[in-house]
Amino acid sequence: MNKREQLESLRAQSLLGGGQDRIDAQHKKGKLTARERIHFLMDEGSFEEIGAFVQHRSSDFGMEKQKFLGDGVVTGYGTVNGRLTYVFSQDFTVFGGSLSETHAEKICKLMDLAMKNGAPIIGLNDSGGARIQEGVVSLGGYADIFYKNTMASGVIPQLSAIMGPCAGGAVYSPAITDYILMVENSSYMFVTGPNVVKTVTHEEVSSEDLGGASVHSAKSGVAHFTAANEIESIQQLKKLLSYIPQNCEEKAPSYPYEKGDEVRMKLAGIIPESANQPYDIREVISEVADEGSFFEVHKDFAENIVVGFARLAGRSIGIVANQPAFLAGVLDIHSSQKAARFVRFCDCFNIPLLVFEDVPGFLPGTDQEWNAIITNGAKLLYAFCEATVPRVTVITRKAYGGAYDVMNSKHIGADMNLAWPTAEIAVMGAKGAAEIIFKRQIDASENKEEALKAKEAEYGALFANPYRAAERGFIDDVILPEETRSKLIKAFSMLENKVANLPRKKHGNIPL
Ligand code: HXC
Repeated sequence: MNKREQLESLRAQSLLGGGQDRIDAQHKKGKLTARERIHFLMDEGSFEEIGAFVQHRSSDFGMEKQKFLGDGVVTGYGTVNGRLTYVFSQDFTVFGGSLSETHAEKICKLMDLAMKNGAPIIGLNDSGGARIQEGVVSLGGYADIFYKNTMASGVIPQLSAIMGPCAGGAVYSPAITDYILMVENSSYMFVTGPNVVKTVTHEEVSSEDLGGASVHSAKSGVAHFTAANEIESIQQLKKLLSYIPQNCEEKAPSYPYEKGDEVRMKLAGIIPESANQPYDIREVISEVADEGSFFEVHKDFAENIVVGFARLAGRSIGIVANQPAFLAGVLDIHSSQKAARFVRFCDCFNIPLLVFEDVPGFLPGTDQEWNAIITNGAKLLYAFCEATVPRVTVITRKAYGGAYDVMNSKHIGADMNLAWPTAEIAVMGAKGAAEIIFKRQIDASENKEEALKAKEAEYGALFANPYRAAERGFIDDVILPEETRSKLIKAFSMLENKVANLPRKKHGNIPL
């Protein structure tokens, strides 16, 4: 075999991972291989592999006789829609994609390159966790990755797609990254699997019910996106990248858009007659944003708040919106956590924030108080206070109580606060307010119901409008709903070169 043939033979070996039988088994499960996933993710012909010849160094349990070139992870770089992107893709055909010392070194090397060159890194995860034969060495490898994930956090975007089992240590690296995408019915994430759960807590639970895509997207909130299959998940990764910049020093790419009539009459008909009737805030979002550009994040989790990316006049924005169609848009623990994390992501990566506000307040009750709505609500408050990106709020209807302050109010650093004529900005709704402050008069009157109604109307006339706040300058302008898109395009364009700095500090102490 000459040198050229030797190289070709080694490359062919490396491409086969754990061998054809295991590749067939992977396909039989309806899963793609590590290399096929990269093929669908990266622009054609752009992928350059790094470390194809790496082998593990273990010799316990006869491991020296089981070596596979690449050692269970394909790493490299290329472009996604023309933009430099780093990717590692775990190969389940090699020891179940488990993480060895060298497997970890390959991922760390890639993270170092991504950091130095300021480009996103995508992990395609399919792993049985720490390589059991290697013991503490593989645990060390995980810790090296967690450390680098943390150092890279807020510097470059880090995205994790889960495309198979993700057990033990395999879950914590994705958890530190910015977004987790899961594939329905073929991906799982858990710290301890069903067998351990059964031993420790005597609960019988399937992998799907313990840590499947639907559990993590709707119940735990660990996953931000789910897809019906791997190809759809890869499409989501590409779409997500299109809204975000390469690194924290850059702005997100902008896209061409056709300037036209920006008046949207449909917006004038969305708010119902009665303040207690729900409407879907997504209707407002889709009318205001560039057509078809809204990309919702965390869609099935804490549905009382809607967050996601969109484009306005071709530029990326992050939207946070109370959802009156779900629990009246109330703020609670999960919705505060969801929105806080999104606000912080946008702020890390220079994505301006647009807030739509229609919120009756914080959710009362023992469940919320005992589970720390105080600390969790404070997360959202803190996240907004700290955000230095351009920030604009539109109050469509209710802005009551503490929630008025929290939802990107002028007082906590918003740059432009607009309200529709239907806005009600007050400490609480007119009925509740009348019941408290006019209790004595109402109790003393002959017809209590009539008296309450009269006082409710009195309070409503004074406060159930945007003008008290506008009088003070807390609201910069009261605008007609149909004007919203054009006003926002102008506002964000005006704010494009905003400079705001936080006081010098090591880092803040967000109420975690
Ligand atoms: C070495 C592993 C492995 C592992 C799987 N394999 N997991 N090898 N270390 N962790 C190997 C198997 O031996 C098998 O090899 C091949 O991968 C495929 O595994 P199967 O079990 O046949 O596949 P499947 O039935 O699909 O089950 C996949 C699985 C299961 C759910 C991931 O293998 C499993 O439960 N693995 C162990 C998970 C785990 O407990 N990991 C350690 C977590 S502790 P052959 O040669 O037959 O193809 C941890 C600590 C880190 O991660 C903590 C840091 C904070």
